[in-house]
Amino acid sequence: MKRNCFFYRKKKYSIGQNGVVTRKSHSNIALIKYWGKHKNKIQIPLNSSISYSLGGVYTVTRLIYYLREKKKRNLSIKVFLSGKEKTSFIPKILEFFHRISFYCSYLRDFNFIIKTYNTFPHSSGIASSASSMSALALCIMEIEKKLVSSLKEDFFLKKASFLARLGSGSACRSIYPGLVVWGCHQSIKGSNDLYAIPYPYKVHSIFTKMVNTILIIDEEPKKILSSKGHQLMNNHPYARERLKCANKNMDRLISILKIGDFQEFGELIEHEALTLHAMIMTSRPYFLWMKPNTLNVLYTVWDFRIQSKKNIYFTLDAGANVHLLYPIQEKKIILKWIYSDLFSYCKKIIESFCY
Ligand code: PMV
Repeated sequence: MKRNCFFYRKKKYSIGQNGVVTRKSHSNIALIKYWGKHKNKIQIPLNSSISYSLGGVYTVTRLIYYLREKKKRNLSIKVFLSGKEKTSFIPKILEFFHRISFYCSYLRDFNFIIKTYNTFPHSSGIASSASSMSALALCIMEIEKKLVSSLKEDFFLKKASFLARLGSGSACRSIYPGLVVWGCHQSIKGSNDLYAIPYPYKVHSIFTKMVNTILIIDEEPKKILSSKGHQLMNNHPYARERLKCANKNMDRLISILKIGDFQEFGELIEHEALTLHAMIMTSRPYFLWMKPNTLNVLYTVWDFRIQSKKNIYFTLDAGANVHLLYPIQEKKIILKWIYSDLFSYCKKIIESFCY
């Protein structure tokens, strides 16, 4: 599908009245990380990525749209997070509306009030841009559906993913449950840079019911935004190698997911996580996302794994927090161990699952 197919072309359309739409969308955690985007292109990733959508960790967004006065053509947006007005969110959302108005011309008739809340604690350090941008994109598609009653579900989701991508790259993966791929990869049929697709191949049952326990080590907002981090990949001395490695890792992961080798899976996702951090540590300027307690957790997990022979592995996002992944069959013992041996390193623990 080309990007042109996402234009809303009709000249004559009419919603003609005010309305409200509400959608929810989950956060996601990447196994193979998206890091870096093409220069001079809008939100096109340097490499393909794959993530799990996270159950229990989501954003609910209510989008109230009301007709703009003809004389006042400038878009007005108000944003409320958990009932509190957030003027600081407006520039990013205005930019998002500006980008997508090209594809959703009907938006130009309205002003908006966005009321949103996250099920995970605010300022927990979990990136909310994926769930919030995808929830907003789904709301916008609900408006489009009012104009085009024949809109097919498949197109609805593809375009929602396409729009979400223009808000925040990783958000395009949050449109679907399960394993989701974004970015063109030669071994994954249908994968492309414009929108995400559900992972299309066979997945061993061990990977279909996974627990994801999120250890919040640091609640402070990140010192470096991911948008800046992506840019730093453009002149990064190790970028070429990283891209080769991400490509190979995707091929390896396809066969791991099929045969169900949890140890191989775990080693691959830990390597990916550390590679992401290595990239930011060797950027110019350089940054360090990990905190002492991140390292304490990683070493403790490694020790526990050797002693207990349990299948527990970590991945990291662009920050200090740790995601622990393990099969549901091991949940009782592992969760007990997490609370007894890791809790002291954390500000909070959030229990989630890959769904
Ligand atoms: O969606 P962005 O622009 O916030 O980038 C997210 C990048 C990572 O979370 C670090 C990796 C990923 O693929 O989600």
